[in-house]
Amino acid sequence: MKTSMTLVAAALFAALSVSCASQLGGVSSMRGADVAASDKAPQAMPDYVGKKPGLQKNIARTFPTQPPLIPHAVANFDEISLQENQCLSCHGPDKYKEKNAPKLGDSHFKDREGKQQAASSASRHACVMCHAPQVDAPPLVENTFKSVELPVKK
Ligand code: HEC
Ligand code: HEC
Repeated sequence: MKTSMTLVAAALFAALSVSCASQLGGVSSMRGADVAASDKAPQAMPDYVGKKPGLQKNIARTFPTQPPLIPHAVANFDEISLQENQCLSCHGPDKYKEKNAPKLGDSHFKDREGKQQAASSASRHACVMCHAPQVDAPPLVENTFKSVELPVKK
């Protein structure tokens, strides 16, 4: 009796080890390749979506401190350099009225000490560091994210 119990236990252990090993061998990562394989070349970047500024609605924000997403095309004015920033030529404080564009957020006029100033802060110069243009792409992995239900500024 004792021997047969030991044999059964040994057989179970062996079966378990085999099934674990075969599962480990087939581990695949979220990027779709075997963990041990080298990275796949990235897919070609799809074009940004959106038409000329002035033709679309703003995209609803999903949490209170979110930098709003860019709803319009950026193809011809996404180059931001020391000399040039075309985003400011529509959204800047001296241009937004004439261009009928939303003005930079109030927070963009605070200096490092939090004091309000007339010109937009240099720390906000690289707009696309926070504001993302949009592409038509499915989510990389399924998720169940739901927008907060707080009153979010539109
Ligand atoms: C030719 C003028 C123009 C230029 C250049 C421009 N925008 Fe806009 N932007 C607009 C207008 C007008 C809207 C209102 C939505 C619409 O009609 O597309 C807007 C909307 C936005 C919004 C949404 C604001 C909100 O409250 O939801 C963001 C963010 C934004 N733009 C960022 C940028 C950034 C960053 C750049 C530079 C890469 C840029 N824009 C360049 C005119 C412009
Ligand atoms: C460090 C991150 C950051 C950078 C850089 C930044 N923004 Fe923003 N932006 C935000 C956040 C967060 C908000 C929403 C809260 C607020 O209004 O400050 C916002 C709001 C806005 C709005 C909507 C304002 C409103 O009244 O609803 C516009 C338009 C905008 N930004 C344009 C720009 C442009 C153009 C630039 C570049 C010159 C820029 N932002 C740089 C984070 C950023």
